[in-house]
Amino acid sequence: MAFKIGLLGLGTVGTGTAEIILNPSGRHPLLQEIEIHRVGVRSPDKPRSVQLPPEAITTDLEAIVADPEVDIVVELIGGLEPARSLILKAIANGKHVVTANKAVIARYGDEIYTAANEAGVYVLLEASVGGGIPVIKPLKQSLGANRISSIIGIVNGTTNYILTQMTAVGADFEAVLADAQKLGYAEADPTADVDGLDAADKIAILASLGFGGRVKREDVYCEGIRQVSAADINYADKLGFIIKLLAIAQGAKGYESDRLQLRVHPTLIPKAHPLASINGVYNAILVEGEPLGQVMFFGPGAGSGPTASAVVSDITNIVGILKSNGKTESLDPLLTCTHQHYCSIVPIEELETRFYARFLCGDIPGVIGHLGTCFGKHQVSLESVVQIGFQDQLAEIVVVTHDVCEGNFRQALDEILALEAVKTIPSILRVL
Ligand code: HSE
Repeated sequence: MAFKIGLLGLGTVGTGTAEIILNPSGRHPLLQEIEIHRVGVRSPDKPRSVQLPPEAITTDLEAIVADPEVDIVVELIGGLEPARSLILKAIANGKHVVTANKAVIARYGDEIYTAANEAGVYVLLEASVGGGIPVIKPLKQSLGANRISSIIGIVNGTTNYILTQMTAVGADFEAVLADAQKLGYAEADPTADVDGLDAADKIAILASLGFGGRVKREDVYCEGIRQVSAADINYADKLGFIIKLLAIAQGAKGYESDRLQLRVHPTLIPKAHPLASINGVYNAILVEGEPLGQVMFFGPGAGSGPTASAVVSDITNIVGILKSNGKTESLDPLLTCTHQHYCSIVPIEELETRFYARFLCGDIPGVIGHLGTCFGKHQVSLESVVQIGFQDQLAEIVVVTHDVCEGNFRQALDEILALEAVKTIPSILRVL
Protein backbone atom coordinates (compact mmCIF):
# COMPACT_ATOMS: atom_id res chain seq x y z
CA MET A 1 0.00 0.00 0.00
CA ALA A 2 1.47 3.34 -1.03
CA PHE A 3 1.54 6.42 1.18
CA LYS A 4 -0.36 9.19 -0.54
CA ILE A 5 0.88 12.75 -0.93
CA GLY A 6 -1.29 15.80 -1.51
CA LEU A 7 1.06 18.35 -3.06
CA LEU A 8 0.08 22.00 -2.74
CA GLY A 9 1.98 23.94 -5.39
CA LEU A 10 3.86 22.86 -8.50
CA GLY A 11 6.34 25.73 -8.82
CA THR A 12 10.11 25.38 -8.60
CA VAL A 13 10.23 23.31 -5.39
CA GLY A 14 6.97 21.43 -6.10
CA THR A 15 8.30 20.35 -9.49
CA GLY A 16 11.62 19.25 -7.96
CA THR A 17 9.72 17.27 -5.31
CA ALA A 18 7.52 15.53 -7.90
CA GLU A 19 10.59 14.73 -10.03
CA ILE A 20 12.29 12.96 -7.11
CA ILE A 21 9.19 11.00 -6.11
CA LEU A 22 8.46 9.95 -9.70
CA ASN A 23 12.02 8.77 -10.23
CA PRO A 24 12.92 6.76 -7.09
CA SER A 25 15.54 4.49 -8.67
CA GLY A 26 18.85 4.64 -6.80
CA ARG A 27 17.36 6.64 -3.91
CA HIS A 28 16.08 5.40 -0.52
CA PRO A 29 13.77 2.36 -1.02
CA LEU A 30 11.00 4.07 0.99
CA LEU A 31 10.52 6.44 -1.95
CA GLN A 32 9.03 3.54 -3.91
CA GLU A 33 6.15 3.49 -1.42
CA ILE A 34 5.20 7.13 -1.95
CA GLU A 35 2.57 8.15 -4.46
CA ILE A 36 1.61 11.65 -5.56
CA HIS A 37 -2.14 11.40 -5.20
CA ARG A 38 -3.22 14.96 -5.90
CA VAL A 39 -1.51 18.18 -6.90
CA GLY A 40 -2.99 21.62 -6.30
CA VAL A 41 -2.03 24.32 -8.82
CA ARG A 42 -3.24 27.77 -9.86
CA SER A 43 -3.07 27.23 -13.64
CA PRO A 44 -3.89 23.62 -14.58
CA ASP A 45 -3.22 24.13 -18.30
CA LYS A 46 0.29 25.53 -17.86
CA PRO A 47 2.91 23.32 -19.62
CA ARG A 48 4.91 21.39 -16.97
CA SER A 49 8.31 19.73 -17.13
CA VAL A 50 7.05 16.91 -14.92
CA GLN A 51 4.60 14.25 -16.13
CA LEU A 52 1.65 13.80 -13.77
CA PRO A 53 -1.71 12.16 -14.54
CA PRO A 54 -4.11 14.97 -15.56
CA GLU A 55 -6.75 13.67 -13.11
CA ALA A 56 -4.32 14.27 -10.20
CA ILE A 57 -4.16 18.00 -10.94
CA THR A 58 -6.72 20.35 -9.45
CA THR A 59 -7.14 24.01 -8.57
CA ASP A 60 -9.15 23.02 -5.48
CA LEU A 61 -6.53 23.09 -2.72
CA GLU A 62 -9.17 22.82 0.01
CA ALA A 63 -10.26 19.48 -1.47
CA ILE A 64 -6.69 18.15 -1.18
CA VAL A 65 -6.35 18.93 2.54
CA ALA A 66 -9.77 17.30 3.12
CA ASP A 67 -9.19 14.23 0.90
CA PRO A 68 -9.53 11.14 3.14
CA GLU A 69 -7.00 9.25 1.01
CA VAL A 70 -4.17 11.76 1.51
CA ASP A 71 -1.72 10.83 4.29
CA ILE A 72 0.74 13.73 4.01
CA VAL A 73 0.04 17.26 2.78
CA VAL A 74 3.13 18.93 1.31
CA GLU A 75 2.70 22.70 1.34
CA LEU A 76 4.90 24.41 -1.23
CA ILE A 77 2.82 27.44 -2.22
CA GLY A 78 4.70 29.88 0.07
CA GLY A 79 3.37 33.18 1.45
CA LEU A 80 1.20 33.57 4.53
CA GLU A 81 -2.32 32.93 3.23
CA PRO A 82 -3.84 30.63 2.13
CA ALA A 83 -0.78 28.56 3.21
CA ARG A 84 -1.43 28.99 6.95
CA SER A 85 -5.13 28.12 6.69
CA LEU A 86 -4.46 25.11 4.46
CA ILE A 87 -1.83 23.77 6.90
CA LEU A 88 -4.25 24.18 9.81
CA LYS A 89 -7.07 22.49 7.87
CA ALA A 90 -4.77 19.61 6.89
CA ILE A 91 -3.86 19.16 10.58
CA ALA A 92 -7.51 19.32 11.64
CA ASN A 93 -8.20 16.57 9.09
CA GLY A 94 -5.48 14.39 10.67
CA LYS A 95 -2.90 14.83 7.88
CA HIS A 96 0.82 15.05 8.52
CA VAL A 97 2.32 18.17 6.98
CA VAL A 98 5.64 18.89 5.29
CA THR A 99 6.32 22.53 4.50
CA ALA A 100 9.09 24.74 3.14
CA ASN A 101 7.28 27.84 4.40
CA LYS A 102 9.57 29.74 6.79
CA ALA A 103 7.33 32.81 6.81
CA VAL A 104 4.32 30.85 8.11
CA ILE A 105 6.31 28.77 10.60
CA ALA A 106 8.21 31.80 11.98
CA ARG A 107 4.95 33.71 12.55
CA TYR A 108 2.39 31.00 13.27
CA GLY A 109 4.57 28.13 14.52
CA ASP A 110 2.92 28.38 17.94
CA GLU A 111 -0.60 27.97 16.54
CA ILE A 112 0.46 25.27 14.06
CA TYR A 113 2.41 23.12 16.56
CA THR A 114 -0.28 23.43 19.22
CA ALA A 115 -2.82 22.17 16.67
CA ALA A 116 -0.48 19.44 15.39
CA ASN A 117 0.28 18.15 18.90
CA GLU A 118 -3.42 18.03 19.72
CA ALA A 119 -4.20 16.22 16.47
CA GLY A 120 -1.24 13.82 16.88
CA VAL A 121 0.34 14.68 13.52
CA TYR A 122 3.80 15.79 12.44
CA VAL A 123 4.69 19.11 10.85
CA LEU A 124 8.20 18.86 9.40
CA LEU A 125 10.08 21.79 7.89
CA GLU A 126 13.62 20.82 6.85
CA ALA A 127 13.28 22.83 3.61
CA SER A 128 12.32 26.05 5.41
CA VAL A 129 15.92 26.98 6.33
CA GLY A 130 19.04 26.52 4.22
CA GLY A 131 17.29 24.87 1.24
CA GLY A 132 19.03 21.54 0.73
CA ILE A 133 21.27 21.81 3.81
CA PRO A 134 20.20 19.38 6.54
CA VAL A 135 20.13 21.65 9.59
CA ILE A 136 16.67 21.28 11.17
CA LYS A 137 16.98 17.57 11.90
CA PRO A 138 20.55 17.93 13.20
CA LEU A 139 19.38 20.67 15.59
CA LYS A 140 16.38 18.59 16.70
CA GLN A 141 18.18 15.27 16.98
CA SER A 142 21.87 14.84 16.23
CA LEU A 143 22.99 17.80 18.38
CA GLY A 144 20.50 17.16 21.17
CA ALA A 145 23.24 16.20 23.63
CA ASN A 146 24.74 19.69 23.42
CA ARG A 147 24.02 22.92 25.21
CA ILE A 148 23.87 25.26 22.23
CA SER A 149 25.56 28.61 22.79
CA SER A 150 25.26 30.15 19.33
CA ILE A 151 23.83 29.67 15.86
CA ILE A 152 25.29 32.03 13.27
CA GLY A 153 24.18 31.69 9.69
CA ILE A 154 24.45 33.03 6.19
CA VAL A 155 20.92 31.93 5.39
CA ASN A 156 19.97 34.14 2.47
CA GLY A 157 21.53 33.33 -0.89
CA THR A 158 20.35 36.49 -2.67
CA THR A 159 22.09 38.86 -0.26
CA ASN A 160 25.16 36.65 -0.09
CA TYR A 161 25.36 36.75 -3.89
CA ILE A 162 25.00 40.56 -3.91
CA LEU A 163 27.64 41.11 -1.20
CA THR A 164 30.00 38.64 -2.89
CA GLN A 165 29.63 40.51 -6.20
CA MET A 166 30.05 43.90 -4.52
CA THR A 167 33.27 42.59 -2.94
CA ALA A 168 34.55 41.07 -6.20
CA VAL A 169 33.89 44.02 -8.52
CA GLY A 170 33.87 46.99 -6.13
CA ALA A 171 30.37 48.05 -7.26
CA ASP A 172 27.66 49.63 -5.10
CA PHE A 173 24.50 47.84 -3.95
CA GLU A 174 21.99 49.23 -6.48
CA ALA A 175 24.11 48.32 -9.52
CA VAL A 176 24.74 44.77 -8.32
CA LEU A 177 21.08 44.28 -7.36
CA ALA A 178 19.99 45.33 -10.87
CA ASP A 179 22.43 42.82 -12.41
CA ALA A 180 21.29 40.08 -9.99
CA GLN A 181 17.67 40.75 -11.03
CA LYS A 182 18.58 40.48 -14.72
CA LEU A 183 20.35 37.16 -14.07
CA GLY A 184 17.42 35.81 -12.03
CA TYR A 185 19.40 35.67 -8.74
CA ALA A 186 17.20 38.33 -7.14
CA GLU A 187 13.40 38.69 -7.23
CA ALA A 188 11.72 41.60 -9.04
CA ASP A 189 10.60 42.70 -5.55
CA PRO A 190 13.75 41.98 -3.54
CA THR A 191 12.42 43.36 -0.23
CA ALA A 192 12.18 40.11 1.74
CA ASP A 193 15.75 39.19 0.84
CA VAL A 194 17.66 42.49 0.86
CA ASP A 195 15.93 43.90 3.95
CA GLY A 196 16.82 40.78 5.95
CA LEU A 197 13.21 39.61 6.50
CA ASP A 198 13.76 36.15 4.98
CA ALA A 199 16.89 35.66 7.12
CA ALA A 200 14.95 36.84 10.20
CA ASP A 201 12.24 34.22 9.59
CA LYS A 202 14.94 31.56 9.31
CA ILE A 203 16.89 32.53 12.45
CA ALA A 204 13.62 32.63 14.44
CA ILE A 205 13.09 28.98 13.46
CA LEU A 206 16.69 27.92 14.13
CA ALA A 207 16.77 29.72 17.50
CA SER A 208 13.60 28.02 18.64
CA LEU A 209 15.11 24.61 17.84
CA GLY A 210 18.56 25.31 19.21
CA PHE A 211 17.50 27.07 22.39
CA GLY A 212 14.42 25.03 23.23
CA GLY A 213 11.79 27.76 23.47
CA ARG A 214 9.34 29.50 21.21
CA VAL A 215 10.44 32.73 19.60
CA LYS A 216 8.30 35.67 18.52
CA ARG A 217 9.23 36.68 14.98
CA GLU A 218 8.83 40.37 15.84
CA ASP A 219 11.57 39.99 18.49
CA VAL A 220 14.21 39.44 15.80
CA TYR A 221 16.16 42.69 15.32
CA CYS A 222 16.56 43.13 11.58
CA GLU A 223 18.69 45.31 9.29
CA GLY A 224 19.21 44.53 5.59
CA ILE A 225 22.08 45.28 3.22
CA ARG A 226 20.80 48.33 1.32
CA GLN A 227 23.09 50.67 3.27
CA VAL A 228 26.27 48.64 2.72
CA SER A 229 28.50 50.56 0.30
CA ALA A 230 31.50 49.69 -1.85
CA ALA A 231 33.51 52.08 0.36
CA ASP A 232 32.70 50.05 3.49
CA ILE A 233 33.57 46.78 1.78
CA ASN A 234 36.87 48.34 0.75
CA TYR A 235 37.68 49.64 4.25
CA ALA A 236 36.63 46.33 5.79
CA ASP A 237 39.02 44.56 3.44
CA LYS A 238 41.90 46.84 4.45
CA LEU A 239 41.13 46.17 8.13
CA GLY A 240 41.07 42.37 7.61
CA PHE A 241 37.30 41.84 7.41
CA ILE A 242 34.67 40.77 4.91
CA ILE A 243 31.04 41.95 5.10
CA LYS A 244 28.28 39.31 5.27
CA LEU A 245 24.59 39.40 6.19
CA LEU A 246 24.55 37.29 9.35
CA ALA A 247 21.59 35.84 11.20
CA ILE A 248 22.64 35.39 14.82
CA ALA A 249 21.06 33.60 17.78
CA GLN A 250 23.29 33.62 20.81
CA GLY A 251 22.86 32.81 24.47
CA ALA A 252 23.27 36.22 26.08
CA LYS A 253 25.93 34.98 28.47
CA GLY A 254 26.60 31.58 26.99
CA TYR A 255 24.36 28.60 27.27
CA GLU A 256 23.62 29.03 30.96
CA SER A 257 21.56 32.12 30.25
CA ASP A 258 17.91 31.90 29.30
CA ARG A 259 18.16 35.24 27.48
CA LEU A 260 18.86 35.26 23.79
CA GLN A 261 20.35 37.72 21.35
CA LEU A 262 18.45 37.42 18.12
CA ARG A 263 19.47 39.59 15.21
CA VAL A 264 20.02 39.91 11.47
CA HIS A 265 22.37 42.57 10.15
CA PRO A 266 25.33 43.13 7.84
CA THR A 267 28.44 42.25 9.83
CA LEU A 268 32.18 42.62 9.44
CA ILE A 269 33.70 39.21 10.00
CA PRO A 270 37.41 38.45 10.23
CA LYS A 271 38.73 36.93 7.00
CA ALA A 272 39.85 33.80 8.89
CA HIS A 273 36.35 33.12 10.28
CA PRO A 274 34.71 29.94 8.86
CA LEU A 275 31.76 31.97 7.46
CA ALA A 276 34.03 34.45 5.63
CA SER A 277 34.62 32.08 2.73
CA ILE A 278 30.94 31.30 2.04
CA ASN A 279 30.36 33.05 -1.27
CA GLY A 280 27.75 33.47 -3.97
CA VAL A 281 24.30 31.99 -3.42
CA TYR A 282 25.57 29.41 -0.93
CA ASN A 283 24.36 29.24 2.67
CA ALA A 284 26.14 28.06 5.81
CA ILE A 285 25.14 27.71 9.44
CA LEU A 286 27.75 27.58 12.20
CA VAL A 287 26.47 26.00 15.39
CA GLU A 288 28.42 26.07 18.63
CA GLY A 289 27.62 23.93 21.63
CA GLU A 290 29.07 22.16 24.61
CA PRO A 291 30.69 19.65 24.49
CA LEU A 292 30.78 19.49 20.67
CA GLY A 293 32.45 22.84 19.93
CA GLN A 294 31.77 24.19 16.45
CA VAL A 295 30.08 22.43 13.57
CA MET A 296 29.27 24.08 10.24
CA PHE A 297 26.56 23.10 7.76
CA PHE A 298 27.23 24.30 4.21
CA GLY A 299 25.49 23.91 0.87
CA PRO A 300 22.94 25.20 -1.63
CA GLY A 301 20.37 27.28 0.25
CA ALA A 302 17.75 27.39 -2.51
CA GLY A 303 16.81 25.96 -5.87
CA SER A 304 14.51 23.25 -7.11
CA GLY A 305 16.57 20.09 -6.56
CA PRO A 306 18.27 21.06 -3.27
CA THR A 307 15.07 22.30 -1.62
CA ALA A 308 13.12 19.29 -2.92
CA SER A 309 15.81 17.05 -1.41
CA ALA A 310 14.94 18.48 2.02
CA VAL A 311 11.17 18.20 1.38
CA VAL A 312 11.43 14.56 0.35
CA SER A 313 13.62 13.73 3.36
CA ASP A 314 10.78 14.96 5.60
CA ILE A 315 8.25 12.89 3.63
CA THR A 316 10.36 9.74 4.01
CA ASN A 317 10.79 10.43 7.74
CA ILE A 318 7.03 10.45 8.19
CA VAL A 319 6.55 7.43 5.94
CA GLY A 320 9.18 5.56 7.98
CA ILE A 321 7.24 6.27 11.18
CA LEU A 322 3.89 5.38 9.62
CA LYS A 323 5.33 2.11 8.38
CA SER A 324 6.78 1.11 11.73
CA ASN A 325 3.89 2.29 13.96
CA GLY A 326 0.87 2.26 11.74
CA LYS A 327 -1.01 5.47 12.57
CA THR A 328 0.90 7.48 15.16
CA GLU A 329 -0.43 6.88 18.68
CA SER A 330 1.95 9.32 20.26
CA LEU A 331 4.35 11.68 18.53
CA ASP A 332 8.10 11.10 18.51
CA PRO A 333 9.44 13.91 20.74
CA LEU A 334 12.57 14.11 18.59
CA LEU A 335 10.51 15.07 15.55
CA THR A 336 7.89 17.37 16.96
CA CYS A 337 7.83 20.65 18.88
CA THR A 338 6.92 20.49 22.54
CA HIS A 339 8.12 23.94 23.69
CA GLN A 340 5.66 25.83 25.80
CA HIS A 341 7.57 28.92 26.94
CA TYR A 342 8.87 31.88 24.94
CA CYS A 343 12.58 32.72 24.96
CA SER A 344 13.37 36.07 26.51
CA ILE A 345 15.17 38.28 23.98
CA VAL A 346 17.84 40.84 24.86
CA PRO A 347 16.82 44.33 23.59
CA ILE A 348 19.26 45.55 20.93
CA GLU A 349 20.36 48.54 23.03
CA GLU A 350 21.68 46.10 25.65
CA LEU A 351 23.68 44.15 23.08
CA GLU A 352 27.44 44.07 23.61
CA THR A 353 29.33 43.90 20.36
CA ARG A 354 32.13 45.51 18.37
CA PHE A 355 31.25 48.30 15.92
CA TYR A 356 32.68 49.76 12.74
CA ALA A 357 31.76 53.38 11.97
CA ARG A 358 32.77 55.64 9.11
CA PHE A 359 32.78 59.40 9.64
CA LEU A 360 33.09 62.23 7.12
CA CYS A 361 34.80 65.15 8.86
CA GLY A 362 36.36 68.50 8.07
CA ASP A 363 40.15 67.97 7.93
CA ILE A 364 40.66 70.03 11.08
CA PRO A 365 43.49 69.49 13.60
CA GLY A 366 42.21 67.67 16.69
CA VAL A 367 39.13 66.02 15.12
CA ILE A 368 40.36 62.49 15.87
CA GLY A 369 41.04 63.59 19.46
CA HIS A 370 37.44 64.90 19.77
CA LEU A 371 36.06 61.59 18.49
CA GLY A 372 38.20 59.70 21.02
CA THR A 373 37.05 61.96 23.87
CA CYS A 374 33.34 61.49 23.03
CA PHE A 375 33.74 57.71 22.83
CA GLY A 376 35.73 57.64 26.09
CA LYS A 377 33.01 59.60 27.90
CA HIS A 378 30.53 56.82 27.05
CA GLN A 379 32.82 53.90 27.95
CA VAL A 380 33.44 53.05 24.29
CA SER A 381 36.94 51.66 23.94
CA LEU A 382 38.51 51.90 20.47
CA GLU A 383 40.44 49.09 18.82
CA SER A 384 41.56 51.11 15.79
CA VAL A 385 41.15 54.52 14.18
CA VAL A 386 42.26 55.07 10.60
CA GLN A 387 42.07 57.94 8.18
CA ILE A 388 42.74 56.65 4.70
CA GLY A 389 40.97 58.80 2.16
CA PHE A 390 39.16 62.00 1.32
CA GLN A 391 35.68 62.35 -0.16
CA ASP A 392 34.48 65.74 -1.45
CA GLN A 393 37.20 67.54 0.55
CA LEU A 394 36.13 65.70 3.72
CA ALA A 395 38.41 63.35 5.62
CA GLU A 396 37.09 59.81 5.93
CA ILE A 397 37.78 58.43 9.40
CA VAL A 398 37.02 54.81 10.21
CA VAL A 399 36.76 53.51 13.75
CA VAL A 400 36.53 49.93 15.05
CA THR A 401 35.59 49.54 18.71
CA HIS A 402 36.18 46.82 21.26
CA ASP A 403 33.04 45.15 22.66
CA VAL A 404 30.72 47.94 23.80
CA CYS A 405 27.15 48.25 24.94
CA GLU A 406 25.11 49.32 21.89
CA GLY A 407 23.22 51.94 23.95
CA ASN A 408 26.50 53.61 25.02
CA PHE A 409 27.84 53.53 21.48
CA ARG A 410 24.69 55.22 20.12
CA GLN A 411 24.87 57.94 22.81
CA ALA A 412 28.50 58.62 21.85
CA LEU A 413 27.49 58.87 18.18
CA ASP A 414 24.76 61.43 19.00
CA GLU A 415 27.36 63.56 20.73
CA ILE A 416 29.87 63.12 17.88
CA LEU A 417 27.28 64.18 15.29
CA ALA A 418 26.84 67.44 17.20
CA LEU A 419 30.58 68.26 16.75
CA GLU A 420 31.12 71.00 14.20
CA ALA A 421 33.88 69.14 12.39
CA VAL A 422 31.76 66.01 11.85
CA LYS A 423 29.54 66.26 8.77
CA THR A 424 27.95 62.81 8.53
CA ILE A 425 28.27 59.21 9.71
CA PRO A 426 27.54 57.33 6.46
CA SER A 427 27.90 53.85 7.96
CA ILE A 428 27.59 52.05 11.23
CA LEU A 429 28.06 48.28 11.09
CA ARG A 430 28.55 45.58 13.71
CA VAL A 431 31.70 43.49 13.88
CA LEU A 432 31.81 39.82 14.86
N1 HSE B 1 15.05 33.84 -1.08
C1 HSE B 1 15.87 32.90 -0.39
C2 HSE B 1 17.35 33.24 -0.59
C3 HSE B 1 15.70 31.47 -0.84
O1 HSE B 1 17.69 34.16 -1.34
O2 HSE B 1 18.16 32.58 0.03
C4 HSE B 1 14.51 30.81 -0.26
O3 HSE B 1 14.58 30.71 1.13
